[in-house]
Amino acid sequence: MIDIAALAVKKWKGERGSLIMALHEIQNQMGYVPREATMEISSQMNVPLARIYEVLTFYNYFKLEAPGKAVISICTGTACYLKGAPALLDEFKKDLGIGVDEATSDGIFHLQCVRCLGCCGLAPVVSVNGKIYGKLKPSDIKPIIAEWREVFPAKETANAAN
Ligand code: FES
Repeated sequence: MIDIAALAVKKWKGERGSLIMALHEIQNQMGYVPREATMEISSQMNVPLARIYEVLTFYNYFKLEAPGKAVISICTGTACYLKGAPALLDEFKKDLGIGVDEATSDGIFHLQCVRCLGCCGLAPVVSVNGKIYGKLKPSDIKPIIAEWREVFPAKETANAAN
């Protein structure tokens, strides 16, 4: 997560409109702007936290809360698209039973499409909460979902065991 903020700072620092561009990049990749990311930007760009939150709360586009515990971002930039992103998206939709910009009913997974995660050499790429998975095939999707189900077990599963 912090890596994404650090990369966004590195990319936009010193550019015109750098604060908004960096925040935009984090929102795009994470589905929201986490508190840790604002702190990273504040210290790296020398902008007071209060100013960052002024910007974040002014624009409806920015979200301060994660839309799901595990935010799955499927890159549909050109390189990823050509190397099979649509098939990955179909697999996520099928396995999770949700569409783009939707969350599972337990609130754990949120699915979104993003433009270029900045690692086209690994296309097709997916990130989950900022963790990058590259050179993916549709058969890799179930294990990724299983990995994150272990991180955020569904309540129903925990109750069923009792
Ligand atoms: S197009 Fe997907 S990482 Fe660049």
